[in-house]
Amino acid sequence: MSIVKDPSLAEQGRLNMEWAENQMPGLMKIKERFEKEKPLEGQRIGMALHITKETGILCRTLKAGGASVAICSCNPLSTQDDVAAALAEEGIETFGKKGETNEEYYDYVNKVLDTKPTITIDDGMDLVTVVHTKRPDLLENIIGGAEETTTGIIRLKAMHAEGALKMPIININDQDTKHLLDNFYGTGQSTLDGVIRATNVLISGKTFVVAGYGDCGKGLASRARGLGANVIVTEVSPFRALQAYFDGFRVMPMGEAAKIGDIFVTVTGDKHVITVDHMKSMKDGAIIANSGHFHNEFDLEGLRKAATETRRIRPSMDQFTLDGKDIYALGEGRLINLAAAEGHPSAVMNFSFCNQSLAMEYIAKNFKGKAPGVYSLPKELDDKVAKLYLDAIGVEFDTLTEEQKAYLTEWREGT
Ligand SMILES: NC(=O)c1ccc[n+]([C@@H]2O[C@H](COP(=O)([O-])OP(=O)(O)OC[C@H]3O[C@@H](n4cnc5c(N)ncnc54)[C@H](O)[C@@H]3O)[C@@H](O)[C@H]2O)c1
Repeated sequence: MSIVKDPSLAEQGRLNMEWAENQMPGLMKIKERFEKEKPLEGQRIGMALHITKETGILCRTLKAGGASVAICSCNPLSTQDDVAAALAEEGIETFGKKGETNEEYYDYVNKVLDTKPTITIDDGMDLVTVVHTKRPDLLENIIGGAEETTTGIIRLKAMHAEGALKMPIININDQDTKHLLDNFYGTGQSTLDGVIRATNVLISGKTFVVAGYGDCGKGLASRARGLGANVIVTEVSPFRALQAYFDGFRVMPMGEAAKIGDIFVTVTGDKHVITVDHMKSMKDGAIIANSGHFHNEFDLEGLRKAATETRRIRPSMDQFTLDGKDIYALGEGRLINLAAAEGHPSAVMNFSFCNQSLAMEYIAKNFKGKAPGVYSLPKELDDKVAKLYLDAIGVEFDTLTEEQKAYLTEWREGT
């Protein structure tokens, strides 16, 4: 029995999913094929993903493929309650409410696990962690899983290195059509959308500090520049710092950036990238947000303790008085694009969820008895996912001639 905030929101959820479907033509093609071929017949898919309109289309696609689907959120602030209501009405076991407590969060993870999944989908690895730490009896039914995001992959690899991982898991983030599109274009645009919806400040002319110059940080920095901000990048990787410098951004340690920034956004997958000491050196009125997976990228707990006064100014914006200055923290430190906005645009999630759907089919076909580990999808699936979209929007491109194919696979022909 599903748990959602308000079942009467279902009609709005259906309309939002109708709008998302229009922009996810590749996924709709896969759904059509799944309806005919039923590659997931007999599978029970248990997933912890942000419950958004795009995830709703993924749930429908997997159901069309013959699977039963149960979903909980992978973040307490990211559920779109109207979509959750609509999914529950469509027979997808749905557990999630925007603003759920930590206790409810894990209760819902367990409710999904109660359905005894044969395949898992995670975004951040909380579901699989509960399987391994609290419910290992479920492992005998699970043939494999898929992980969506960078932070989940970091955790999975650490688990595998310790010999603790007991199931095979596909790294969806590894696909070019995931990390080079979702992380770059999706996080780039939707993070700014979140900051703007939370604050409605003018980005133009602001000093905008991006912590982390990975796929997400690159997208965010370029889009903040596009809106007229003066962008500073902080990094710990020499190569990424060099890339940011060659892309025309100022690069400096956070200790320096903290003193001059107006808006700070962390996208590192790391912890305490902005500390309370950094915050103490910030200007009066500085705004801090996070778009990395977990809410520990800036030290909100430390800020709460150190602040002499705290006020909620707007739904996703809290004011903290620190050493006589006001610091504004957005979205309770949760990924701001989902906490204060609607997450990535549907067109970008089309690619991530084409990969998830094809991964489910791949696992159902190939993973029975597969050794535990972190696997990638075959590279040709990347091309397939890209082509599905290009075909749908009517963009044609070149193909290799026979002569070119031969040339690109031989070594004798040179100068
Ligand atoms: N908001 C979203 O919707 C969304 C979407 C995709 C990914 N993510 C999350 O965003 C985070 C970043 O993802 P990514 O794909 O860009 O990862 P990435 O590994 O490509 O990049 C992270 C960068 O942060 C840098 N970094 C690490 N610690 C740092 C520190 N202390 N100071 C400065 N830089 C530091 C790393 O050197 C690296 O270059 C992850 O947590 C990921 O799960 C969020």
